[in-house]
Amino acid sequence: MSHAPVESTAPGKVILFGEHAVVYGEPAIAVPVSQVEAGATVEPAPSGSGLTLVAADLEQRFTLAEAPPRDPLALAARLTLDRLSAPAPDATIVIRSSIPIASGLGSGAAVSTAIVRALAEFIGRPLSPAQVSELVFEVEKIHHGTPSGIDNTVIAYERPVYFICTEASGPHLVSVGAPFTLVIADTGLPSPTKRLVSRVRAGWKRDRARYEALFEDIGEIAREAYRKIETGDVEGLGPLMDKNHALLIQLGVSSPTLDRLVDAAREAGALGAKLSGAGQGGNMLALVDVEDAQNATEVLKEAGAAHVIRTTVA
Ligand code: PMV
Repeated sequence: MSHAPVESTAPGKVILFGEHAVVYGEPAIAVPVSQVEAGATVEPAPSGSGLTLVAADLEQRFTLAEAPPRDPLALAARLTLDRLSAPAPDATIVIRSSIPIASGLGSGAAVSTAIVRALAEFIGRPLSPAQVSELVFEVEKIHHGTPSGIDNTVIAYERPVYFICTEASGPHLVSVGAPFTLVIADTGLPSPTKRLVSRVRAGWKRDRARYEALFEDIGEIAREAYRKIETGDVEGLGPLMDKNHALLIQLGVSSPTLDRLVDAAREAGALGAKLSGAGQGGNMLALVDVEDAQNATEVLKEAGAAHVIRTTVA
C-alpha cells in the first residue's frame, strides 16, 4: 500500500445533445469541461484512525464508519474499497470542487470520480475509466434515482462521448474532426435533475405517443450531430442545437430564464444555442466562432448569466 499523499481530479461536463431522451434509450453526446473540476487528496493518517472524509467547501468532516448510509461521498469511498476488497486505510480524503452544484455540469459525478480515483491510487491499485464509471454510476443513483449513466461516463473517460444507455459494450469515444468553441452560461437557478426526470416520465405516462415522437426526434438530432462532429462540420451543428432546444421546450423542461439566455446568444451571433442538462435552471450552451466568444460572453452576462465559461472541444 502506498503511503505518499495522492491527488486526483475530475472535470465537469456538458451535454451537447440528447438530454432526457437518453433516459429512454436514445443517443446523447456529452463533453468534459476542464475549466471547472473536482479534486480529492488522500493523505496518510495515524494508525488506527480509520478513513476520514472532509468536504472542504461544505465544511463537513466525518469518518467512514460514522457516515450516514446514503451519504454520496462515503458511498463512493465504500464502493471503491468493496471493489478492491481492501480494508479502509488510515487516511484523510479532502474533497473540493469548483463545479456549481445542481447546474447540469456534473458536479456529483465529478466529486465521486475524484474520490474513487484518489482512493484506488492511494491503495496502489488504480482503476480503469470503465471501472471508475461503473462505481460512480452506483453513486449517481442516489443523486438522480434513474440516471442514464452519461455523466459518470463522460467524466470518468474525460473524452467526448456518444452514449446510449442500453449498449453494454461501453461508450463510443468521439473523434472531433474540427475543434469548436462553446460558451456555457449559468442561469444561477438550480436544475433539480430528479424532479425534472420525474416530470418528463409523468408526461410520457400520460401521452406515450407524443413523448416517444419527441424522444425519437431528439435521438435523430444526436445521431446527425455525432456524424457532423466526427467529420468536422461545425457550422452544421448550430441548427441542430436550435432544433434540440425547441424539442426540449416541447418536453416542458426549459424556462423563461433559459430561453432568454438562448435568445441572447443567438442575437450575439451564436451558430446555435440550447439548454444543457435537466433544464428549468442550470446551464445553457452556445456554439460560437472563436472570434465571437468574448462578445457572446459579455452579452450573456448582460442578459443575466451568473457565470460564463468558455471551452474548446477538440
Ligand atoms: O445531471 P444533468 O443536469 O446534466 O442532467 C442529466 C441529463 C438527463 O438526461 C436529464 C438525465 C440523465 O440521467 O441522463
